[in-house]
Amino acid sequence: MIDKTSLQDKSSPEEKTSPEDRTSPEDKISFQDVVKTFPMKDSTFTALDHVSLDIADREFVTVVGPSGCGKSTLLSMAAGLVEPTSGQVLVDGAPVAGPGPDRGVIFQQYALFPWLTVRDNVEFGLKLADLPAAERKRRAEHAIDLVGLADFADSLPKTLSGGMKQRCAIARAYAVNPKVLLMDEPFGALDALTRVQLQDQLLETWRQEQRTVLFITHDVDEAVYLASRVVVMAARPGRVHRVLDVDLPYPRTEEIRLSPEFAAIRNEVWHSVYHQSQPTPAG
Ligand SMILES: Nc1ncnc2c1ncn2[C@@H]1O[C@H](COP(=O)(O)OP(=O)(O)OP(=O)(O)O)[C@@H](O)[C@H]1O
Ligand SMILES: [Mg+2]
Repeated sequence: MIDKTSLQDKSSPEEKTSPEDRTSPEDKISFQDVVKTFPMKDSTFTALDHVSLDIADREFVTVVGPSGCGKSTLLSMAAGLVEPTSGQVLVDGAPVAGPGPDRGVIFQQYALFPWLTVRDNVEFGLKLADLPAAERKRRAEHAIDLVGLADFADSLPKTLSGGMKQRCAIARAYAVNPKVLLMDEPFGALDALTRVQLQDQLLETWRQEQRTVLFITHDVDEAVYLASRVVVMAARPGRVHRVLDVDLPYPRTEEIRLSPEFAAIRNEVWHSVYHQSQPTPAG
């Protein structure tokens, strides 16, 4: 039932045109031979080493890999917060020149304005988008509802638990309704039940709103449950190790999560992450 996994990075499906050909306004992310180095005291550290990866419109791609393999750096480039040292990152065919309202970002370290309530934090991004007040309110309320914070809309972040703060940060990104969602371990701080609920909500809104999602996680189950492709990265230097197809139907259900097909691909991803992260003689 499950297609055997691919052993290399795959381009977007053939029916998608190359970035240069694209006339569609819909979004897509393309990392083209991206290298990112950071200067060290006496040397240069290569965080990302010739990473190429195409994410098709409306695709849901998850990224797993050992700590320090460059996952957040990769996502920050698509967000326009970090520039490649060489190569380029395209969103909808155009080089990323900085952050934009077309891309909603949820950071690994959630950042809320401590002096604003949950509602005002969520509305903040909408103010920048120049929407009428009534529409801002409607969208903020809907997003707050989705993450289960309706009873805390008027609370300040300092009165919330870590998981609730993270849900507030998620609501802020959802409210802007971006075509591209860039999510860096967004559910990491959440309890198992909330996590499963938010995974299902995310999949539901992804389908409804026809978004493209790039989602980083340490959780292999989560990576497989959400994605149509899982990118396994390797460290030292950070690079794409494997890209695995998740040939399971949407909507994803509890039945799928418990199926032998799911287990098989989860094991394949786990194996891929585990074995490539063993220390090598070179360190
Ligand atoms: N601004 C920076 N200056 C120097 N080195 C950096 C900088 N940002 C990231 N790095 C290095 O680049 C590598 C990749 O970092 P990154 O945060 O992308 O890893 P990650 O895969 O997201 O790790 P984790 O799973 O722990 O979040 C790390 O070794 C990190 O120390
Ligand atoms: Mg990270």
